[in-house]
Amino acid sequence: MTKLRKAVLPVAGLGTRVLPATKVTPKEMLPVFDRPALQYVIDEARAAGIEHFVFVTGRNKSAIEDYFDSAYELEHTLQAKGKTGLLDELSGLLPEAGRCSFVRQQAPLGLGHAIWCARDLVGDEPFAVMLPDMIMVSDPPCLAQMAAAHAEVGGNIISVEAVPRADVSKYGIVDVGASSGAGLRHLNAMVEKPAVEDAPSNLMISGRYILQPEIFDLLADQGAGAGGEIQLTDAMVRLMSKASFHAFEFTGRTYDTGSKMGYLEAFLALALEHPDHQSDAADMIKAFAARL
Ligand code: UTP
Repeated sequence: MTKLRKAVLPVAGLGTRVLPATKVTPKEMLPVFDRPALQYVIDEARAAGIEHFVFVTGRNKSAIEDYFDSAYELEHTLQAKGKTGLLDELSGLLPEAGRCSFVRQQAPLGLGHAIWCARDLVGDEPFAVMLPDMIMVSDPPCLAQMAAAHAEVGGNIISVEAVPRADVSKYGIVDVGASSGAGLRHLNAMVEKPAVEDAPSNLMISGRYILQPEIFDLLADQGAGAGGEIQLTDAMVRLMSKASFHAFEFTGRTYDTGSKMGYLEAFLALALEHPDHQSDAADMIKAFAARL
């Protein structure tokens, strides 16, 4: 079984649901408590053994590349002030030099198109896709659980989780069948943003995928789907007739930073999860709630 080494992180979307916050700051760089949303996803990827990170970027996203570079003035100043602990903490957050690649999507034509833009950097091996606006918290982390299952059964694996039935038309929705081993279920069907009455279940595709490279050939001629965008789900549906697909039902906590209320929830939740600050954060939230 080929080891999972690469992750594709599509970061070229416009983030219109969180405007004006995203007018000049990429959605993926908005702070969620004390670090950019993207950092949580990088931590999750590294915990799964990912060695190479492929970012699919676009205009106004240069802050993302800068984040993965050294910050000479900041580092020099921290060194001069003897803040070596902070310096070590900062450098420990980043993948090693040479482990990040950046490719431009040029126009935000949809998630499927963004993934296709990574084809040359991924090459002929299985790869992870991680939607960086979804922060997924569990122990062990979501992608690590999926990578362990992939090492056993191979194929394509998609994380799914239950949402209220009334919300299914916002998401990619799957139909799952019997167990397929390694904690996975057979994936029978998927559809992007179905009407409530047409949805095969209330299980949404929740933002982590392990895909085989054959998906790139299908994405190459994938037409626009729901919302006029080139959808990854539509290409996966075509791949399902030729390759095995499994669903991994994620049971941790997922925070969607791509909407205003989701962002607020993520910010509060991650403050409450921070080992050094959870108690103060809880006191602050309780005091605030008492004033409502
Ligand atoms: P979203 O649909 O959540 O992101 O895509 P968006 O398009 O930025 O959001 P809104 O609807 O305008 O608020 C999920 C992920 O896929 C990336 C986004 O950056 C996000 O991380 N994406 C989406 C691309 O890289 N390219 C695209 O064409 C679309």
